[in-house]
Amino acid sequence: MRLLVCGGAGFIGSTFARIRARDHGDEVVVLDKLTYAGRRESLNDVDHVFVHGAIEDPAAVGAAIEGADAVVNFAAETHVDRSIAEPDAFVRTQMQGTYVLLEAARERGLRYVQVSTDEVYGSIQAGSFTEDSPLRPSSPYSATKAGADLLVGSYAHTYGLEAVICRGSNAYGPYQYPEKLIPLMVLNALHGDALPVYGDGMQVRNWLYVEDFARGIGHALERGAPGEAYNVGGPDECPNLEVVRRILALTGASEDLLEHVPDRPGHDRRYSLSSERIRTLGWEPRVRFAEGLERTVTWYRDNAWWWEPIRSGEYRAYYERQYGRALRPAS
Ligand code: NAD
Ligand code: DAU
Repeated sequence: MRLLVCGGAGFIGSTFARIRARDHGDEVVVLDKLTYAGRRESLNDVDHVFVHGAIEDPAAVGAAIEGADAVVNFAAETHVDRSIAEPDAFVRTQMQGTYVLLEAARERGLRYVQVSTDEVYGSIQAGSFTEDSPLRPSSPYSATKAGADLLVGSYAHTYGLEAVICRGSNAYGPYQYPEKLIPLMVLNALHGDALPVYGDGMQVRNWLYVEDFARGIGHALERGAPGEAYNVGGPDECPNLEVVRRILALTGASEDLLEHVPDRPGHDRRYSLSSERIRTLGWEPRVRFAEGLERTVTWYRDNAWWWEPIRSGEYRAYYERQYGRALRPAS
């Protein structure tokens, strides 16, 4: 199958591209705008064709989609804190970009997978969301992701587009940009920088190893029913404070580095997904959190070539704006 993978230079998209090219023999075309989060080097070991462009640009999409059998859309602005500070790019990419891709898929009668998130359901105190739960997003990030999901649903319903939505819980693993909790804490611990925990640190996330998420998206692509959404939840829940303590233990860094900082505005307390529907397609998670976290810490320890250019570049200014303090000077 020839796949157009939009946002394939990002964390989950590059993992998906690697698995599809290596294990399924798919031809992979990556369309990516290369924002700060897009890293071509994450595709170094992936057999693919690369097209540099934005999903909201119909000409770029038209060029990249040539000959494709299906479109899988990972492209998005993905960091909640950045959506609170500067929401405009989130609206452009998630809304206009998804619209342009849907139109291109509709014109050509292609199968379409929208990669989405548990955050569209909002926070849940107890129990888990199913695909039929109402969408109650709370941040500009999750609201624009929910808007894109609704648009995808409308194309399936109105035009009969073979579209499927895949909603994942918090993914973690190699090649994740260090603005997100786990890589940020791992790299800070390895460098002796403070580990900034928002609020009381008792927010709960449902951790999903990135390869498990990528395989789930593959199941939805191959076997998902048109018009359906599929939740893909991780096997383990963990409060942030415990995640950070485990990272301190795995890196051997001092507990004194842990620091409580002001909470994220509108911070969702807990996410939890029921994944029964995707299990009916034969998917199940393979990597438990303890094992995946250990693998992830080892990967960051061994792959400074990947994160050093990030951590010594614009990221330092982002970090200072976001946390009101500088990282220790790069050695
Ligand atoms: P990421 O931020 O690592 O990568 C996003 C990629 O999209 C980058 O390569 C970036 O350059 C590209 N991109 C951004 N705007 C673009 C545009 N307008 N046109 C073309 N390319 C563009 O993101 P990620 O964590 O890999 O997330 C991928 C998808 O999975 C997103 O849709 C996200 O909402 C969803 N998701 C992420 C998680 C998670 O925990 N990271 C969980 C569930 C769902
Ligand atoms: O749930 C899926 C979502 O997971 C994806 O859709 C998003 O793209 C992805 O960014 C992620 O969103 P979160 O907001 O849950 O992830 P983040 O890594 O930003 O934060 C995880 C938790 O850790 C959250 O409760 C906030 C907290 N946190 C985060 C950072 C960056 C801290 O306490 N300190 C921090 O410095």
